[in-house]
Amino acid sequence: MLANAITKFLICNLQFFIYIGKLFSLIIKFVAKFMLMIEQIEEYLAQVDQFNSSNNEEIEQFRIQFNGKKGILNDLFAQFKNVPNEQKKEFGQKINTLKAAVANKLQNLKAATTSQIVSVKEDLTKPGFPLTLGSRHPISLVKNRITEIFKSIGFAVADGPEIEDDWHNFSALNLPEYHPARDMQDTFFIEKNPDVLLRTHTSSVQIRYLENNEPPIRILSPGRVFRNEAISARSHCIFHQIEGLYIDENVSFADLKQTIQYFTTELFGKSKIRMRPSYFPFTEPSAEVDVYWGLNSETDYRITKGTGWLEIMGCGMVDPAVLQNVNIDADKYSGYAFGMGIERIVMLLYQMNDIRMFFDNDVRMLEQFKTS
Ligand code: PHE
Repeated sequence: MLANAITKFLICNLQFFIYIGKLFSLIIKFVAKFMLMIEQIEEYLAQVDQFNSSNNEEIEQFRIQFNGKKGILNDLFAQFKNVPNEQKKEFGQKINTLKAAVANKLQNLKAATTSQIVSVKEDLTKPGFPLTLGSRHPISLVKNRITEIFKSIGFAVADGPEIEDDWHNFSALNLPEYHPARDMQDTFFIEKNPDVLLRTHTSSVQIRYLENNEPPIRILSPGRVFRNEAISARSHCIFHQIEGLYIDENVSFADLKQTIQYFTTELFGKSKIRMRPSYFPFTEPSAEVDVYWGLNSETDYRITKGTGWLEIMGCGMVDPAVLQNVNIDADKYSGYAFGMGIERIVMLLYQMNDIRMFFDNDVRMLEQFKTS
């Protein structure tokens, strides 16, 4: 009875079951086909990625294969309408990725081949584009010039630290504690007791060099020095000096004068100098050197204050006490020292009227020192 009923039911609904079955197989086919197409696009993507050529014909073939009228992309877009709605989004995105990859590849390959063509066509004998070079700072230019002049008569360059102790900046230079001449150099102290300071002159390098070397000594030490001075057009708290030192047997004041005269002739083209008595604790006798600049123009009047003379450095015979401080036999050896400010000399040579310009470093000023 029951079996009968079931058979009847099945027979009656057979048509229906067949439909259901067909529907299922159709869906499975669709999905399978769609999966295959996605895989296919992945393969195309890999193909595009791997493609490389510098041959124009090959690149054109590649373009036609993908972008041509009957090309792969058009074919894929044509199949779009057959894709089940739920999968349309994923399928669409995949095709667009492929399309972008093809366009990107074509663009890169074309750029590479055209640049190749340009480089072959380029005239290799054409002069290059000019490079814009920087320029040396006027302080460096003059420092180098002065160094060269003294190098040519046997002076070597010696260096020392900008942060000094009391001994090298003052005491060893015959400036003991409480010596009034210390006040002449407004010192920047970093630490007190024991004193650590910014060197106020390059004379400290004399001591450092004398401590470690035996005469004969002939050195030049350019460098930065620091003094607590109000900044104005004529003075700055940072400036540069060049120190000279010569120690040997039988060095006399005549040697000093001769050397300085040689120097002023080389640097300024002016050989008339005079030495005025002066005082430095580390030299005895001491002198200031003036160069006769002349009174040929209004500027000469202005910069020499109407005298024609310009002060350019301090100098003297090294005090025997200084030699004793560094254990050099003052009976056997003597010598001279001199020191000059570089900024003043640069201002003279280049007719600059404000020392602050050296530290502002405005490129409009610096560019004027370019060498061609
Ligand atoms: N150190 C001195 C100064 O700064 C210059 C100088 C150097 C004088 C060497 C004599 C000898 O004023």
